[in-house]
Amino acid sequence: MSQLMDAARVTLFGSRNAGKRSFEPARDIPSLSGKVVLITGAAGDLGRQTAVELARYGHPARIYIADLPRDADAKQGVIERIQCETQSDGGSNDGKYEATEVRFIDLDLTVFESVQKCAAEFLAREQRLDILVLNAGIISAKIGTTREGYEKHFGLNYLGHALLLRLLLPPMLSTAQQHTSADVRVVVVSSEGHAIAPAGGIQFDKLKTNCADISYAQRYGQSKLALIGLARELAQRYPSLTTAAVHPGRIITGMATALSKESLLVRLTAPLAPLVCVPVSIGVKNHLWAATSPDVTSGKYYEPVGLPGKETNDAKDPDLSRRLWEWTEQEFKSAGLLGEQTSLH
Ligand SMILES: NC(=O)c1ccc[n+]([C@@H]2O[C@H](COP(=O)([O-])OP(=O)(O)OC[C@H]3O[C@@H](n4cnc5c(N)ncnc54)[C@H](OP(=O)(O)O)[C@@H]3O)[C@@H](O)[C@H]2O)c1
Repeated sequence: MSQLMDAARVTLFGSRNAGKRSFEPARDIPSLSGKVVLITGAAGDLGRQTAVELARYGHPARIYIADLPRDADAKQGVIERIQCETQSDGGSNDGKYEATEVRFIDLDLTVFESVQKCAAEFLAREQRLDILVLNAGIISAKIGTTREGYEKHFGLNYLGHALLLRLLLPPMLSTAQQHTSADVRVVVVSSEGHAIAPAGGIQFDKLKTNCADISYAQRYGQSKLALIGLARELAQRYPSLTTAAVHPGRIITGMATALSKESLLVRLTAPLAPLVCVPVSIGVKNHLWAATSPDVTSGKYYEPVGLPGKETNDAKDPDLSRRLWEWTEQEFKSAGLLGEQTSLH
């Protein structure tokens, strides 16, 4: 039975990935020696595996795991798991490279103050930032809002990340300027779910509500559509950075586990999930390719690895992304979050 499931999965995945570019972390991740990486949601499945593969094959100086606060033992547990997995299964560090230091940094994307503290702590410790992976995310059937009153998917998946990005722009821009071999990247983890955003894409007049009149899939889709717009605007406004938005594929991770606790339909359809899902090791290639490949065209959305162009018309709409950028800027200004130095173009 399991062989049948595997065959079906390979067939399905194979057809969905026809034409995808091959990317093998062991072969294709370049040296990241001396570089600094920050990954949000890296205690979770895709973020953690991104840290492991970058450390295993790229050997950056430091990787920051930015995730929800937890007690000291739990943080140490996350760090040790990443270090342990980095050394297993073909890690190429045979003494030639300095081991990557892994550090945990508190981040709650639903609270502006926490995002500010995370950025401040990072800036107090580092002068450069080479790879920023905006990976954390939730999908939840329950309605809710963030501390500042935004719909919780939009507030966490998009707005919290947009704020973190803006606060971390100064070290990224100076890294791009000061280091001759610089290749500063922003990886924006979106989703094919952006296609389920509500009509018009983003309901600007309702973002500071719980958006209870649309489905949870639409609330998630709206946030993931916004992230594609963020990647495009960032690329246009900051050409010294390389930005890509990705869909990592369908993968059974912490997100699905959390959703299954809330949704009977998800529990009932769970036995079918292995037929349409891929392992974390496959999904994470999207993150890794976007973080390191010379083939990335800045500002594009890729689904799957290396294939641009599958996003919806709303996601391609430059007027929508410009409006979102300006709306976001205004929200941050009204909340007193952006001083002169972090104000955007
Ligand atoms: N898995 C898929 O099929 C799939 C498909 C398309 C896109 N994606 C995207 O892939 C990304 C990674 O998700 P995943 O599948 O690896 O799920 P995951 O295992 O649940 O990881 C998500 C991470 O985000 C963290 N997080 C949750 N709320 C947060 C908050 N308020 N502030 C900071 N961090 C928070 C989680 O922390 P806790 O675990 O402590 O809650 C977790 O570490 C997400 O953006 C997701 O939308 C996934």
